[in-house]
Amino acid sequence: MSPHIMVFDSGIGGTTVLKHIQQYIPDGRYSYFMDNAYLPYGKLSQQTIIQRLSGLLIFIETQQLHVDVLVIACNTASTSALSALRELTTIPIVGVVPAIKPAALLSKSQHIALLATPATVQSSYTQQLISQHGQAVTVHLYASVELVTLAEQTYQSKKIIQDKLVAELDSLAIDNRVDVIVLGCTHFPILAKGLNEYFNSTVLLLDSGVAIAKRVCAILKEHNIDCSDELDANCTGKKKPLRYYATASIYVDKQPVELVTLIDPTQNEKS
Ligand code: DGL
Repeated sequence: MSPHIMVFDSGIGGTTVLKHIQQYIPDGRYSYFMDNAYLPYGKLSQQTIIQRLSGLLIFIETQQLHVDVLVIACNTASTSALSALRELTTIPIVGVVPAIKPAALLSKSQHIALLATPATVQSSYTQQLISQHGQAVTVHLYASVELVTLAEQTYQSKKIIQDKLVAELDSLAIDNRVDVIVLGCTHFPILAKGLNEYFNSTVLLLDSGVAIAKRVCAILKEHNIDCSDELDANCTGKKKPLRYYATASIYVDKQPVELVTLIDPTQNEKS
């Protein structure tokens, strides 16, 4: 049977990662989970994020969803909760974290920027990534919650609100020596067109989508689940329908998404 791959994000941002995975594994059975009742994750504490993801694991188990790989397509959740989460389940988990290493290798000016949520920018995981892979460059940090909101709106309306994007980017005042920007939030590739327009295509925007797709393939192979890691350029016609879950009311492609509730495991312990 084809593998069941669940992609999780606080909102619609994880679809930018899902798209890449689907190109590599067109035969996969996919579900997409949005914890949009708690969006934006970038403002939450690490403890709350761990609780929400623990609730997700309980949901997967009680609903008997038989997930082969769980992709946490959210930099904020991954940098806050990956190791805690892996302790709680045997399901292989792939996290999405900022692409600092390739950005440092690609930069010619030796100035790169990380554009992410406040939680990702402040996390010790990110600090560690920077000290491991960003030694040879200066890493400029920029945090934004507004860009997440703009990406959600853009996804729904299919139109970038360029004046709001420009206002937010102006207020971030990204250093003009930067030649590579790490999109350290899975929502941000939705704004790529507007970002390229703002920077006159003079900076390289880097996300982790392709690397994650390859990692999912490798994990499936490790578990003896058939998977080609060759990019399937003609896969669009073969995609199977997605199953969506959301924790707050939302429409995707004009269809209402199945509403679900995540249990807070700490409440259970108390009762
Ligand atoms: N898409 C998420 C990320 O990659 C975060 C968005 C949010 O703040 O909820 O960080």
